[in-house]
Amino acid sequence: MQRLALKLRGEGRRIAFVPTMGALHEGHMSLVDEAKRRGDFIVVSVFVNPTQFGPTEDFAKYPRTLDADAALCRERGAHCVFAPPSDGMYAADFSTFIEEGLCSKGLCGDHRPGHFRGVTTVVAMLFNIVQPHAAIFGAKDAQQCAVIRKMVSDLFMPVDIVVAPIVREKDGLALSSRNRYLPADLRAKAPSLYKALLAAKAAVDSGERDAALVKSAFERSLAQEPALRLQYFTLTDARTMEPLSKIRPGETLAAVAVNLGETRLIDNITL
Ligand code: PAJ
Repeated sequence: MQRLALKLRGEGRRIAFVPTMGALHEGHMSLVDEAKRRGDFIVVSVFVNPTQFGPTEDFAKYPRTLDADAALCRERGAHCVFAPPSDGMYAADFSTFIEEGLCSKGLCGDHRPGHFRGVTTVVAMLFNIVQPHAAIFGAKDAQQCAVIRKMVSDLFMPVDIVVAPIVREKDGLALSSRNRYLPADLRAKAPSLYKALLAAKAAVDSGERDAALVKSAFERSLAQEPALRLQYFTLTDARTMEPLSKIRPGETLAAVAVNLGETRLIDNITL
């Protein structure tokens, strides 16, 4: 992959890259569409990265659907699917990690220790292998976007980071590879998560600036669906992920994680 990338660069091609863990859906495909606007050689990587999963998380059961993923990428116009084997990225004596120390604090950083260290490490490795001019990430994982932007800026990585909007089902649920874990009865309850984010947004749109009161509006709405067990709801600076006590419209991220049955769902909205 790296040899191919360096050759393409030598020929003046522009490589646009979409890193994924596979089980691809329309959210991922929207990133491929964005990649087509950012480059003329589109690479999608499919790699379930072990270092970003905690010991009690779903690494082993994470859906792996490589044939279907490759077909989707081909249909959508990607030129290359880079899918290293599960033991193909980390040498047995692998010992180098990248750790971002500001944006990775709080939110998922508090609830998934080591997660972002795994993400930054594998994304840096993938950037070195794929040599992209631009890399496309989804706003669905807002904290991940902030952490990657910070890593690229701090380490002078020559890659343009592009963030594409969240793709949702008609009922509001953000598309996620993990949605396929949800049995039908729980799936029917999942849209209440986005409804609660919209309640927070409605409060801000009607003039509320006190973060505590916006949070109450969110919690009142979420409480209507007790199956959604709140892990965190935060109002932070969208760039640094630092908590805000006063909403700054346009710059404030409302981010949430819940458990629904056995499945962890995250979502967010910019207020
Ligand atoms: P994965 O969860 O497969 O997501 C790959 C990319 O798709 C991420 O940038 C994510 O934000 C984006 N994405 C997922 N659902 C989306 C949706 N509904 N709308 C828009 N974009 C969506 O994120 C990862 O993999 C990994 O952490 C990775 C960056 C590949 C490193 O291993």
